[in-house]
Amino acid sequence: MKNSEVNIGRATEADLDGIMELQAENQHAIGGMLSANFSRARIIEMMNEMPLIVARHGDHIIAFLMSSTRNVNEDVPIIRAMLNAYPGTASAYVYGPTCVSSEERGKGLAQAMYRELRRLEPGREGILFIQRSNQASLRAHEKMGMCEVTSFVFNGNEYAVFSYFG
Ligand SMILES: CC(C)(COP(=O)(O)OP(=O)(O)OC[C@H]1O[C@@H](n2cnc3c(N)ncnc32)[C@H](O)[C@@H]1OP(=O)(O)O)[C@@H](O)C(=O)NCCC(=O)NCCS
Repeated sequence: MKNSEVNIGRATEADLDGIMELQAENQHAIGGMLSANFSRARIIEMMNEMPLIVARHGDHIIAFLMSSTRNVNEDVPIIRAMLNAYPGTASAYVYGPTCVSSEERGKGLAQAMYRELRRLEPGREGILFIQRSNQASLRAHEKMGMCEVTSFVFNGNEYAVFSYFG
């Protein structure tokens, strides 16, 4: 998709610095909403198996949407907790994390990246979790048409589990 200067598509290794930067800026520890903090090596592993979608403004990364096979992050406790609560179909994959830089929110970028991911993975089920307190994300993903299938508690916080079919 092209929207004036914004380009949405599959990330390459050239986009990794920008992705790492945006991930770092949105960590829970500094008041952001991202609980996962994936290493560069893990992100490369993820993107070798599944599409990693980015939005670029020129060569600046303004948003990302990661996705992964069930196996690649089986050592991540919160992802294990989600898949225990809702295993999904045999070919299901994990959607997320997704993040849009703070100045670019509310412009439909999360929705556009989701459209691109579904285009690349037609027919497959995607599964994700959203912290119950993250109203913006709950609303954005409900608006995309995703359905809440269950919820789970992890480290004292409640998370909604959503699913969709591409
Ligand atoms: C959640 C997030 C990815 C949404 O991205 P986005 O590009 O702003 O979302 P979109 O513009 O595609 O979504 C639009 C819809 O989401 C909802 N929404 C978005 N921001 C919202 C906010 N601050 N409060 C309430 N609803 C909000 C609205 O329903 C909106 O539709 P509308 O504009 O017609 O009312 C973005 O806010 C973000 O990166 N947040 C920080 C990281 C994060 O929470 N990641 C998700 C973890 S599960």
